[in-house]
Amino acid sequence: MMSTAVPQEIRKEIERLVKELNEHSYRYYVLDSPVISDAQYDREFRKLRDLEKKYGHVLPDSPTQRVGAPALDRFEKVRHSEPMLSLDNAFSAEELREFDKRTRKMLGTEEEIEYTVEPKYDGLAMELSYRNGALARASTRGDGYEGEDVTRNIKTIRAVPLKIESDNRIPSEIDIRGEVYMYVSDFDRLNRQREQDGEPQFANPRNAAAGSVRQLDPSVTASRKLLLSCYGIGAVRGLSLKSHEELIQWLKSARFPVPARFAVVKGIDKVLEEVASIETGRESFPFEADGAVIKVNDFGLQQKLGTKTREPRWAIAYKFKAHQATTVIRDIQGSVGRTGVVTPFAIFEPVRIGGVTVSRSTLHNWDEIERKDIKIGDTVVVERAGDVIPHVLSVVKEKRTGKEQSFPIPETCPACGARVVREEGEVAVRCVSLHCPAQVREKIGHFASRGGMDIEGLGEKNVELLYEHGLIRHFEDIYRLTKEDLLKLPRFAEKSAQNLIDAIEKSRHAELSRFLFALGILHVGEYASKVLARNFRSLEDLYEVKPEEIMAIKQMGEKIATSVSAFFNDRKDIDLLKSMTGPKIGIRITNPDFKTEAAAPGPLEGLTFVITGAMPKPRKEVETLIGINGGHASSAVSASTDYLVVGDEAGSKLDKARKLGIKTISYDELLKMIEGKGEQPKLF
Ligand code: IVH
Repeated sequence: MMSTAVPQEIRKEIERLVKELNEHSYRYYVLDSPVISDAQYDREFRKLRDLEKKYGHVLPDSPTQRVGAPALDRFEKVRHSEPMLSLDNAFSAEELREFDKRTRKMLGTEEEIEYTVEPKYDGLAMELSYRNGALARASTRGDGYEGEDVTRNIKTIRAVPLKIESDNRIPSEIDIRGEVYMYVSDFDRLNRQREQDGEPQFANPRNAAAGSVRQLDPSVTASRKLLLSCYGIGAVRGLSLKSHEELIQWLKSARFPVPARFAVVKGIDKVLEEVASIETGRESFPFEADGAVIKVNDFGLQQKLGTKTREPRWAIAYKFKAHQATTVIRDIQGSVGRTGVVTPFAIFEPVRIGGVTVSRSTLHNWDEIERKDIKIGDTVVVERAGDVIPHVLSVVKEKRTGKEQSFPIPETCPACGARVVREEGEVAVRCVSLHCPAQVREKIGHFASRGGMDIEGLGEKNVELLYEHGLIRHFEDIYRLTKEDLLKLPRFAEKSAQNLIDAIEKSRHAELSRFLFALGILHVGEYASKVLARNFRSLEDLYEVKPEEIMAIKQMGEKIATSVSAFFNDRKDIDLLKSMTGPKIGIRITNPDFKTEAAAPGPLEGLTFVITGAMPKPRKEVETLIGINGGHASSAVSASTDYLVVGDEAGSKLDKARKLGIKTISYDELLKMIEGKGEQPKLF
């Protein structure tokens, strides 16, 4: 090996740098108390990298080994040596007391039990497998039995030790379990950046963490500020521990990050006190805690209690209520969506809720305003559940002074001043102007969106900018944009302009279903566009289509039929389509969905599916997939459910399905059923 030729002092220097840099990482990412600046760290890091390069001598736990792995096509599946269980939930003190009662009964004791209490981190569960002290593999929880190999991504997280550093007791084999998560402030920053770049925002820190880990390109993961908190183990050899407390202590001594708060208490009363204290304290946690986890401390007792199918009997999660805060409504305004619907929203006195500053929230519609009796100037309780989108829960009527003002249904569009209408039996108020700038902007945004033409970089902000500068008024204008146009705008530089032009160019080749969705025809969502694409060979085949022809398709109702037919019988619309697919703009549409045997039943015909847990694709897409293959996707498990499609972090639906004896399948198995290779339902 080349390394034999490495001079002794260089070896020493490399060792020193690795040790020092790892120490700084540990101080920064685990202890949260750095002693050097980022710039100093970077300098030392570069020094190490240069030496490694020059002498070809790289230690396995060198910080340089965390980054730089090439992108993958897909993740390998990994079987956990012991299943990664989930937790039973409690939503009240009562339910926690019941848990304690059950536990004591099973253990046949009247005595108080020793419990541990720690925050429940809202992130992504992970297993880190160490072999002889070195990180060998990291995998996601998956369905609890089988996850995905995300080792190269997890290595980029600096709080994850590449090597177990411990003075004693390095087990020959240990699977450490923990949660990968993100600080709320870093989540905010990431979302702001994404908004600027015209990329879709993450709904909450958990999704951001999960999305960052499940990246095929490790450099993307590396760019996200991910953290880790360890709270358990799976298989272990060469280490004997007596309690959860000992485990946490060992983890700490081995330099693993552990929960920010950790208490050992005796008896359920003390548990309740600690849980309450964590719940009050959580508003000041820098991370999102969605509950507290209570565990029987003694491993011997844990063993006695054993596990149910999905959960241990020795632990329970107490789920916190949604974050709430009170604030004052400064104003109520209307915003105009793509179809002209005017949606009222409240502007608040900015208030922090669960670590996020909230200054506005949708009020949904005027019925809702009336029902909750919301007025400008009102003090209101605002709630932000795990999904981050805040909403007004109620008005604090005692705080009324009489100066509050109600916000009547507008008679004109807040964006363009045109007349608005409210159709019989509809809660929505709609602007009917064809030139309403808000609608036009929303339409263009929808056209470029992920489910549509998928033009990366043409998000809300950029559409607004281009609209303001008069560069886009219609879909076609997107395809007339030049790099020079973009470079004149404040937010564009050479690279970002080129990227957008490239993304637009790419979208010139489109599948019919996406193109139809992108057009934003009333009532035509992703599912309906797929169905149309299955039944019509080409775009031209839809020109002048009659409502009856659409109605003849099994999945299509009168509303869609009317609106699709109206669209394709309108001269202006047809002219637009002709121009877009004509030689000047040159959008090329292919239709892989079209099936000559479209009328034949799909492989999932007559079957009802329910989805639970995280899917590899957005849930809507999976539902669409089920729908276009003849199946029906429902949201609740019942006796008429045929299959439960189970993903990561499956919830209570799985328990219910088990009780009802409903078959569970993975997403991959669903795909197999569709491809016709898997199990086919028998008709008799
Ligand atoms: S213990 C066998 N402790 O919550 C019990 N889980 O809802 C294993 N979680 O899958 C879990 N913080 O991803 C435990 N302090 C903590 C936790 C925690 C977050 C997650 C974990 C688990 C899920 C269950």
